[in-house]
Amino acid sequence: MKSTMSVSVALVFLELFAISSFCSGNSYVGCTDSEREALLKLKQDLKDPSNRLGSWVVDGDCCKWAEVVCSNLTGHVLQLSLRNPFRNDLRYATTEYEDYMRSMLSGNVNPSLVDLKHLTHLDLSGNDFQGIRIPKYLGSLKNLRYLNLSGAEFAGIIPHQLGNLSNLRCLDLSWSEYALQVHSFSWLSGLSLLEHLDLSQMNLNKASDWLLVINSLPSLKVLKLSDCEIHHFPPLPSGNYSSLNALDLSKIIFITLFFNTAAGFLVSVI
Ligand SMILES: *[C@@H]1O[C@H](CO)[C@@H](O)[C@H](O)[C@H]1NC(C)=O
Ligand SMILES: *[C@@H]1O[C@H](CO)[C@@H](O)[C@H](O)[C@H]1NC(C)=O
Ligand SMILES: *[C@@H]1O[C@H](CO)[C@@H](O)[C@H](O)[C@H]1NC(C)=O
Ligand SMILES: *[C@@H]1O[C@H](CO)[C@@H](O)[C@H](O)[C@H]1NC(C)=O
Repeated sequence: MKSTMSVSVALVFLELFAISSFCSGNSYVGCTDSEREALLKLKQDLKDPSNRLGSWVVDGDCCKWAEVVCSNLTGHVLQLSLRNPFRNDLRYATTEYEDYMRSMLSGNVNPSLVDLKHLTHLDLSGNDFQGIRIPKYLGSLKNLRYLNLSGAEFAGIIPHQLGNLSNLRCLDLSWSEYALQVHSFSWLSGLSLLEHLDLSQMNLNKASDWLLVINSLPSLKVLKLSDCEIHHFPPLPSGNYSSLNALDLSKIIFITLFFNTAAGFLVSVI
């Protein structure tokens, strides 16, 4: 009896010790080998003239690398923010513009990215991917809540695989000089948690379902369609196309529509 009691007392102490070290952060686990490898492969395929990824070295703890955020509990990479640290103010020959140009990453996005299975936040904005396609495999990063490819100079048709990102809250595909295209928006209807959608400067001419799908996204609060190219307002199911006011966009708290239409008229609602 006595020995059982001392065993359980010891167990309690052990547990308290475990809890206290857990709470004081002593449980820091650091980067996992497979995720470090994935990041190093990613770096290998990127041109990085300003050495933004200088801290990404073989055998390092990738949780301490620039632009990488890990979970303190599991050591898994949660955030990868490769956003250009400088703002593109579009005033050529200013120092800020030069800094912006110099800080652009370019090259390819290595498919090893999908080994970062716990990634919730991916920001590649403001870099220069020089007209390569948006990689289809981004669609397998199922935990993503935030994806920002704004001004990253991807080109071509948006891969419908992005519709598999069912946890996405924020999707920004705006301002590519190459005018990304969408042929159908049916993939977007899988993103039922999406709150913020920016498709500015996109060519929507072929996507006759854009209004129907966007109008049916249940969580959407912010919609930005500035400078989009569109030739027609597609028919709504009710057959009531008298004006934009007839759309049920009431759940959207912020909306910018600014279309380049074939007819040459502009619609702007803010
Ligand atoms: C992880 O721990 C570091 C250092 O203690 C702290 O600065 C950071 O905010 C923590 N991150 C999270 C996501 O809790
Ligand atoms: C995406 O990144 C750009 C900067 O590169 C920023 O201006 C924009 O607000 C970001 N989009 C969202 C939705 O956070
Ligand atoms: C997307 O999901 C579909 C069906 O759930 C699956 O067949 C497809 O392989 C997935 N694509 C990606 C890129 O994960
Ligand atoms: C069109 O919608 C408006 C606003 O909801 C409504 O007042 C009007 O009666 C509708 N017209 C037709 C023909 O359904």
